Amino acid sequence: MSVRVALIVGSLREGSYSRAIGLEMKALAAPELELDLIEIGDLPLYNPDLDTETPPAAWSRFREELATTQAVLFVTPEYNRSVPGALKNALDVGSRPYGQSVWAAKPAAIVSVSPGALAAFGANHHLRQPLVFLNMPTMQQPEAYIGNVAGLLNEEDGTLKNEGTREFLKGFLDAFAGWIETTKG
Ligand code: FNR
Repeated sequence: MSVRVALIVGSLREGSYSRAIGLEMKALAAPELELDLIEIGDLPLYNPDLDTETPPAAWSRFREELATTQAVLFVTPEYNRSVPGALKNALDVGSRPYGQSVWAAKPAAIVSVSPGALAAFGANHHLRQPLVFLNMPTMQQPEAYIGNVAGLLNEEDGTLKNEGTREFLKGFLDAFAGWIETTKG
């Protein structure tokens, strides 16, 4: 049976490399894992004062979409050696109201993406810290650091042109499917 996985992309950029990698993974994962891209770009900055019985509509939409998924795949770039603020904000929005976190106990995996050679290592590992607190069992191995990404994608449509990367991502997704099976509640 197929498992619904939230695909969260840390970049809001239209031509995002991270989004391109995430969408390639969505195609590679099917039908075993059904990856659903859940947008984070319209989420107002988290402010507890707004988290009333009628919170911002985008927060409710995001929480409801996350609630229908059983696992989460994060594909993110690195901003200043950490995660982009938009991604941290999405983690915060999903974590509240207190006791109603939509992240709780969902298995997770992280792919970091960069045009640079360090492959967003800093973002990959910074993201692991809040996931501990959010009680998301996060796959340790294999790790996925996609560096020098511009050379891996076709300029016209952002699809993968590197067969080795495709094989690697497929193996990563297979491992994630196994991880979800052993850790989901
Ligand atoms: C960056 N970039 C970047 N890259 C990196 O490898 N490490 C870093 O610390 C940073 N810092 C950083 C800060 C800010 C504010 C921006 C806008 C960019 C470059 C970044 O990797 C590049 O813009 C990617 O293309 C962003 O990913 P997407 O949008 O293509 O997915």
